[in-house]
Amino acid sequence: MERRAWTREELLSEHAYARGHEAAGYRLHGGFDEAGTYVPPRTLARWPAVLAWQGGLAERGLPLLAADPGLLVHGTFPSFEQHRVLLQHGYGQPLWNSLTITGVFEARGRLLAEFPFPDFREAVRDDLSETATGHLNGGLLVAHGLDEGGDPASGLGAHDAMWFAIRDLLLGADAWPAPEIPESITRPDAGRLVPELALPHEQMLLLLMNVLLVEVRAEVAFDTTRRLASDPGLFLDRRERAALAAAMVDRIAEDERIHVAYLRTVLSEMRGFSWKGVSGRAIPGTEIVDPAWRELVRWHAEENPRLARAALRPPLREAIRRHGGVRLLSLFDDLDPDRAAADAAPGPVARVA
Ligand SMILES: [Fe+2]
Ligand SMILES: [Fe+2]
Repeated sequence: MERRAWTREELLSEHAYARGHEAAGYRLHGGFDEAGTYVPPRTLARWPAVLAWQGGLAERGLPLLAADPGLLVHGTFPSFEQHRVLLQHGYGQPLWNSLTITGVFEARGRLLAEFPFPDFREAVRDDLSETATGHLNGGLLVAHGLDEGGDPASGLGAHDAMWFAIRDLLLGADAWPAPEIPESITRPDAGRLVPELALPHEQMLLLLMNVLLVEVRAEVAFDTTRRLASDPGLFLDRRERAALAAAMVDRIAEDERIHVAYLRTVLSEMRGFSWKGVSGRAIPGTEIVDPAWRELVRWHAEENPRLARAALRPPLREAIRRHGGVRLLSLFDDLDPDRAAADAAPGPVARVA
């Protein structure tokens, strides 16, 4: 049987890179192997461990929870085509803002490395020692937080620095003033969703679901940036820099795969556990996980993209009109995939949650 108990040191361990990761003047995490292939940070043991825990799920006949962009209803706003027409007209600020905001949110992911989280051992009847769930506080969350926001001890930049580097390569470091940063991209607290659990365990479960769905949504946003950077008709005076930016998006996406993989594994294990309810009742994991997961998917796939778009669209249209007049604005509007829905949406009062 593959090994399913790992130490924190192992889960944080790194490959022996043939070459470190440096790009656009930043020293960054991860590295390259002998063949020049990018290798994500802290994955020497994490990948074999996650695959072994997924093997454990399969032995127990538990399916891996579906968590992929197929869950999502909306694409990015602005879309690839909308960003492209703005860039063709020399208006890079919306993309510059969105890459800056992505970097700031990635930095906030460091929170996962900053303190111990409630332990599910107290809430579950099963033995967790050979599960991903049992390793959350044993290295998995710390590794994840360091991947996002960086390890100050190493002096290496992480995803936050990588997004700023991508932005700088494509559009220049100080091309525009810093944008206003939306408060949060996770579902706001709207009352108890899993009242059978003690509040700290419910909050922890929802945190894991929020983070997983933010990762899934990020996959779609990465694709938009990668396509823009790779488009032979854009960034004509800096094609080489744009190609490096596209490669860096690929490296971030490669780093994120382990995050999606371990979080899916944890939530899938949780569906198979027998839980201890606060009422003393034994509760099957599907009753704990499934209703909350449905609500978080609905929020991330439908409600939040709709509200975020409704908040962003009016000031963005106004800025486009100021930059390129009604002609550019109408080109932008004509490319809007959800135009009918957008026209019916509430005005600027809606706020990004
Ligand atoms: Fe990230
Ligand atoms: Fe991530």
